[in-house]
Amino acid sequence: MNRSILSLIGFFCVLTFAAGSLGAQEKPPVTTHDLEGKEACLMCHAPEIMPPVPDVPPETHAGRANETCQWCHAADSPMQTTGASKTSHDLEGKEACLMCHAPGVMPPVPDAPESHEGRADETCLWCHTKAG
Ligand code: HEC
Ligand code: HEC
Ligand code: HEC
Ligand code: HEC
Repeated sequence: MNRSILSLIGFFCVLTFAAGSLGAQEKPPVTTHDLEGKEACLMCHAPEIMPPVPDVPPETHAGRANETCQWCHAADSPMQTTGASKTSHDLEGKEACLMCHAPGVMPPVPDAPESHEGRADETCLWCHTKAG
């Protein structure tokens, strides 16, 4: 094997790796149906409850309530149009996110926007995954 073939193989390995890590940040799938009479998402989407309705992935979705689904799955949600920033700081002793990020409480800490009303501390890291 000559050198250029080896570097070509190396190049494809890097490409595959890059595609793999991009995959980890893929957008949530969009809700494909209308919502008329379908507010109780888990009535149909809870694991194995109503085949062939696609199941919520049990590992990632445990503990997520019906009120939260459209935060991520609505076609016009900020998660689809903007995406969430990474948490830029360490988390040691900072579990109570809203203590600092609730609007106006601790300038100049960036405020959680209006869209976040009613979101509890336990939900923040679903979307704002830790940087690095
Ligand atoms: C009455 C049963 C039912 C209810 C209630 C329901 N869904 Fe669905 N959902 C389905 C079915 C069936 C499909 C697959 C076919 C389709 O798109 O209609 C689906 C598809 C989806 C998909 C696309 C999954 C994929 O594989 O791309 C998402 C996301 C979704 N639903 C989210 C929701 C959310 C969020 C709610 C609540 C606001 C909800 N659904 C309520 C039956 C339901
Ligand atoms: C924090 C964002 C977020 C929330 C909240 C959320 N989801 Fe998801 N959902 C995702 C992502 C991202 C995926 C892709 C797979 C994964 O990460 O496990 C997904 C996957 C799914 C799938 C599988 C689709 C398929 O093609 O297999 C269904 C169904 C679904 N979610 C429904 C729901 C329902 C119902 C709720 C509310 C109880 C909900 N989701 C709450 C982000 C979210
Ligand atoms: C003690 C106060 C404090 C706590 C608690 C805290 N943060 Fe922060 N956060 C900050 C400050 C200050 C910044 C801006 C400077 C920086 O990145 O360190 C910030 C930045 C961020 C950013 C980046 C915002 C941007 O504009 O890009 C995100 C996302 C974030 N925090 C999420 C969280 C989450 C999620 C939690 C809870 C798990 C949390 N924070 C807990 C003080 C805090
Ligand atoms: C469903 C996903 C989701 C959840 C849960 C969530 N956020 Fe966000 N957050 C976003 C998105 C998307 C944006 C940017 C667009 C917007 O909504 O304004 C954002 C914006 C922010 C901002 C403004 C700075 C920036 O990075 O744009 C802060 C601060 C923030 N979120 C903190 C929090 C805190 C604290 C919690 C928990 C109480 C939380 N978020 C829960 C998705 C989420």
